[in-house]
Amino acid sequence: MTTVVTKVLGGTAKPVGILYIEPDLQVEDAGTGTGLDGGLNAPFVADLLSACLAHERCGVHLYRSIAGRSTMPDLRERYEALRTETETHVALLEALISDTGGNPMYVSPAARATEGAAARLVETTWVLDGSLDTVTAELAMLEAVLLAETKNHDNWELLGELADAMTAGSWRDSLQAAVDQVLNQEDDPLGWARETRRRMLYVAATGSEPPAATPAHRDEAADDAAVTPDSATVTKEELYHEAKDLDVPGRGAMTKDELAAAVAAAKEGDQS
Ligand SMILES: [Fe+2]
Repeated sequence: MTTVVTKVLGGTAKPVGILYIEPDLQVEDAGTGTGLDGGLNAPFVADLLSACLAHERCGVHLYRSIAGRSTMPDLRERYEALRTETETHVALLEALISDTGGNPMYVSPAARATEGAAARLVETTWVLDGSLDTVTAELAMLEAVLLAETKNHDNWELLGELADAMTAGSWRDSLQAAVDQVLNQEDDPLGWARETRRRMLYVAATGSEPPAATPAHRDEAADDAAVTPDSATVTKEELYHEAKDLDVPGRGAMTKDELAAAVAAAKEGDQS
């Protein structure tokens, strides 16, 4: 008896590809001959941009889905706001890709992998749907937000770094402007998701409100205070604004400490 058929055991099969694309829709290397050809591996970046766009598009679906099912009015309101915000990110990336001469309807292999992961993530939010344990059901949704926003944040930080690595030009400026707009949004979805999840878990586990900051956060605050005397009172967003005014390269990918140090160095450079 054979329960697992393998080549070694004499298994045979038809050589069917797992994805069929009609000949007139096939793309060999997106990105070649487009505005991405300035200091970057254009085909790779075209595929990456497609994956970033797929992540944002899937984010819209996630927020639409959980905003319709959350039973907590403040969370529902937040998910609605994040859906609207994510729609603007989709539009930004579509415009950026079109501006390079690329096609926002191109779905790269990396984008298909992203879609697969995102679909599973939405699935996890349905597992406890209709459950009597509403807190756990809400936390499953919030956790999906945390995971999605973590990748989202990293994607935009990386795009900021790629903008820095590109040769000067109008597309590089558009990319940097888009990154600035997204990372500099009033709203900090990732920070919000982290903090809300921490609070909900703590309250559910202890029945009381959590301390103002976790030990990890306290260490960060202590580190911040060590960088500049007033950095404890300056927000990351304010430092980012200053870094932008001083045209600090790579600012989109910096931590608060790094921003504080880079701003201080840039100011020192201005004075000398
Ligand atoms: Fe986004």
